[in-house]
Amino acid sequence: MLDSLSRRAFLRAASITLAALAMPGQAGAGQSAATCDILIIGSGAAGLRCALECLTLAPELSTVVVSKSMPSRCATCMAAGGMNAVLGTIAEDSFDQHLFDTIKGGDYLVDQTLTRAFCAEAPELVHQLDYWGMPFTRTENGQIKSRPFGGSSRLRIHFCKDKTGHYLSHALLDVALSRDVKLLMDHELLDIAVDNGRFDGVVLRNLRTGEIAPLICRCVVLATGGYTRIFWNRTSTPFGASGDGIAAALRCGLSFCDSEMLQFHPTGVLHGGALISEASRGAGAYLLNAKGERFMQRYAPQRMELGPRDIIARGIETEILEGRGLGSGDEAHVLLDMRHLDRKKISTGLPQIVHMAKLFENTDILNEPLKIRPTAHYSMGGIGVAQWQTMETEIPGIFTCGEASCVSLHGANRLGGNSLTDTVVTGKWAGKGASTRARSSSLSAGRKAAELAQQWRERFRTVTAARGNASEMYRLREQLGKELWNKLGIFRDADRLQNLKTTLEQLWERYGQVRVPNPNPVYNTAFTDYVELGNLLLLARSACLAAIGRQESRGAHFRRDFPKRNDEQFLKHSVVRLGSDGTLGLSWKDVDVSLYPPKERKY
Ligand code: FUM
Repeated sequence: MLDSLSRRAFLRAASITLAALAMPGQAGAGQSAATCDILIIGSGAAGLRCALECLTLAPELSTVVVSKSMPSRCATCMAAGGMNAVLGTIAEDSFDQHLFDTIKGGDYLVDQTLTRAFCAEAPELVHQLDYWGMPFTRTENGQIKSRPFGGSSRLRIHFCKDKTGHYLSHALLDVALSRDVKLLMDHELLDIAVDNGRFDGVVLRNLRTGEIAPLICRCVVLATGGYTRIFWNRTSTPFGASGDGIAAALRCGLSFCDSEMLQFHPTGVLHGGALISEASRGAGAYLLNAKGERFMQRYAPQRMELGPRDIIARGIETEILEGRGLGSGDEAHVLLDMRHLDRKKISTGLPQIVHMAKLFENTDILNEPLKIRPTAHYSMGGIGVAQWQTMETEIPGIFTCGEASCVSLHGANRLGGNSLTDTVVTGKWAGKGASTRARSSSLSAGRKAAELAQQWRERFRTVTAARGNASEMYRLREQLGKELWNKLGIFRDADRLQNLKTTLEQLWERYGQVRVPNPNPVYNTAFTDYVELGNLLLLARSACLAAIGRQESRGAHFRRDFPKRNDEQFLKHSVVRLGSDGTLGLSWKDVDVSLYPPKERKY
């Protein structure tokens, strides 16, 4: 009885297979292929919120969510501290203040009109989550509580202890399950098919059986998350978040915007980079150098530990570079000190921080300072969006939302607390867009999707047939992470970036020679690693190209050789595209600064 009421039982009931979606006569040449109306790839908060919108607005259409792992293992869970929205509980706050903090945080690379719409839509969606059962921490009189957070001028971030993303993803999953969402679990996206400019379906791989097959749908929403995993061993992102959707978007002709804009969260644990939430500093934690100084005095004298992430991350690295850090090389770090704070409040209000400190560094954070160093946390860059109201890309029928997308809400440095809000707002916008598009379009023939699926089957055979040594692939992955940290990390310059470009070309060549000596398709996790590494390399090459092109410093992109922001030349979004010859090209597009003209950013 109990078992039948478990989450596992509900997930099993919602789980479908490609075979269950098969429709004879699709996928070219009269073969049968799986079909559905709306396909959402990614089951983090953005994908699930999008699915809920589709299930509500278009109940007559079939909506399927593809998930690479258990839906609850998504990157959403890594955003711990909370979600921003002006709920009316803080008298002196307003949408315009939220908008301004976002623009200033993003160093003016934020598209302002759509961001105003984002700020205005956020409160209703937070209230909806409350209604759906998300257990927000509350004040004594029952209001949703808020706490201080980096870069915000008001108390605007709402939270569930220090596990907000975790609770958000579970609340959305519960509602989605209760509304009979269909989940295609353990499948990865290999490619998106576009036939003569028309969306033609996708190619998926079943991670359990190894089956590679096309799936034909009226439209697809890419909610596959970001690509900070390019830094491999110094990121807070989960292992599976390898930017598959962005890489597939590039390959099918879509743009990759602001790819050089990668956010380093100041407080990752020293070993591995898992996140210690900014909620720690919201509660009053100090950042200390080897001399015991609160060094943020030097970098953000007014906001101190609650400055924006880019400035704090640079502050920490500067302390280390100038000899005021602790340890050296890979062990270099500064300290996060919570010893002066109320122990009961910390252990009950921030249990995850206490747990993470113990788990990763064997540190009892209530009694000793924790070793921390910045960690790659969030991708401001992502798939270019042609129309923000619907989150549709330049190719009709292909939509995107959440961290995979770059609708230009976050500019050059995302305001802490805006990512979870982004998932529900852009997820809703994309759901509305996809429902409307699916109603007015027919299923394509799926010829190109069938062709691409066949190419992937052949690639599997080639890569796994020959003798080889998979450890070369893992060496490559390690090297990629190290090279990027050193040359595309918190401080960049022309020499290092040019050197990185050459190295990435060599790694790309080596990747072409990689062989996975296991021809068994069943649970071939080495082949999954192989596919993911290819995506990471493509995205790293794009980010490097855009970082070379942006000869200024803005937000998270800091060039030692161009330390100032240069609005005259670079108040522009970078746009990377993949040519048919396999080369990457860079162009620029305008930023919407119609509400707040750029000015100097001071904290
Ligand atoms: O520090 C944090 O809790 C992260 C929050 C976010 O990325 O918005």
